[in-house]
Amino acid sequence: CLWVRNLRLKRRLPGPFAWPVVGNAMQLGQMPHITFAALAKKYGNVYQIRLGCSDVVVLNGGRAIREALLRRGAEFAGRPNFVSFQAVSGGKSMTFNSYSKQWKIHRKIAQSTIRAFSSANSQTKKAFEHQIAAEATELVEIFLKLSAHGQYFNPAHELTVAAANVICALCFGKRYGHEDVEFRALLEKVDKFGETVGAGSLVDVMPWLQTFPNPVRSMFKNFKDLNKEFFGFVQNKVEEHRETFDPEVTRDMSDAIIGVIDKAGGDNGLTKGHAEGTVSDLIGAGLDTVSTALHWIILLLAKHPEKQSKLHELLDKVVGPSRLPSVEDRSRLSYLDAFIYETMRFTSFVPVTIPHSTTSDVTVEGLHIPKDTVVFINQWSVNHDPLKWKDPHVFEPARFLDEEGSLDKDLTNSVMIFSAGKRKCIGTQIAKVEIFIFFAILLHQCRFEKCAGEDLSLNCSYGLTLKPLHYRITAKLRGQLLKGD
Ligand code: HEM
Repeated sequence: CLWVRNLRLKRRLPGPFAWPVVGNAMQLGQMPHITFAALAKKYGNVYQIRLGCSDVVVLNGGRAIREALLRRGAEFAGRPNFVSFQAVSGGKSMTFNSYSKQWKIHRKIAQSTIRAFSSANSQTKKAFEHQIAAEATELVEIFLKLSAHGQYFNPAHELTVAAANVICALCFGKRYGHEDVEFRALLEKVDKFGETVGAGSLVDVMPWLQTFPNPVRSMFKNFKDLNKEFFGFVQNKVEEHRETFDPEVTRDMSDAIIGVIDKAGGDNGLTKGHAEGTVSDLIGAGLDTVSTALHWIILLLAKHPEKQSKLHELLDKVVGPSRLPSVEDRSRLSYLDAFIYETMRFTSFVPVTIPHSTTSDVTVEGLHIPKDTVVFINQWSVNHDPLKWKDPHVFEPARFLDEEGSLDKDLTNSVMIFSAGKRKCIGTQIAKVEIFIFFAILLHQCRFEKCAGEDLSLNCSYGLTLKPLHYRITAKLRGQLLKGD
């Protein structure tokens, strides 16, 4: 039956020749999204590769991807049954579980919890923005300390702590100091999470690699250990919340999630462990992505001093030196948003989404894809399509501004980094607000500079997120050091 299925798949979808045992795994290279885009030039936007024991369909380009995720949403909303996915959150993660009635309820709960704590009404909106601004002003102070006497430093870790603090404060009502050694150590480990769940990771498609000592086996062991440790951290916090739970007072997201999942007594198919799964989904997803975005923004600011000066001029004109920028200034700071969109497009730092799988037989661009096929969605290819973007390999934020200097909505909507359809990122709105406030405050307060004579490299490591390799910058205070209100 599997043989017949494979035969059908092979007949109907184009793709490169696959070697026995490894398939095309050795051809992916260091940056699989770029290989996928190159293969699309030869085989079209919908083609098939083989990775170890898995047939994988790769979708490229805006048209094919939107047809699949928006017009055939339910058919593409599955997740593959990978061993690495089962290791996340004790198997109770919403993100890494497949499409089902129970999954729909789980996703709705996670979505409405985020909304309740970030944008439900003007009060929650203000509180959320205020908390981000407080993290951003603390980050400014830390950057200035690390830059004392003209020193250079790598901002990666402080950015991760700052982004983690925003989501931890929402989930647990608690933030952690930048000097908290245990918290830093935990985050350092979690940083490696994306290496295993990113598209093209070999653990899931070559299970036999786990039977003898090799780098993939040790990577998978580290992955299981980091998941255990991270999930243990979340479980402790959620358990503490259970012990002091008061149905009359919802202190934070953990309380809200416990309230809905535990108290439903299994009526919605979700059990107690799903509360921990939901909290760890939100924390895990909310720290690596936002910090990586900020990491690229800082690198690109230092790499393009003339663009940074233009941003400073705009901030000086719209905000001035005696107060910090806020979301209310946003409509007059379109060039900041243009810089953010161009960072997302140019770096495409989530190049391929979390792998999907088909929930039933389906057709895309006239090509038949059978049920239970693993699907990779190449977001990078959408953001670098020369038919959509002029000089896609050039970093040019102004491409997002129209003649009046306003954001071109057609172009901003064409950037794909949060995916689309039934699996679209549920943190899109809060991520955009977070990135804007962090960026605006850091930029208002500091000028970022690279070492003289050093050309900042755009080289990065591949995984679920693309992370810049080690680089160093220095931050110089512009004007007066301001605190949030
Ligand atoms: C899923 C991007 C921030 C929560 C995803 C996916 C992408 C993504 C590409 C996978 C979608 C797919 O598989 O098709 C981003 C980016 C972010 C960001 C670029 C920041 C710049 C956040 C934040 C949260 C969050 C702040 C929550 C606090 C989630 C969750 C999922 C997800 C829960 C799983 C959705 C599902 O499987 O149904 N995100 N994300 N994300 N994101 Fe985000």
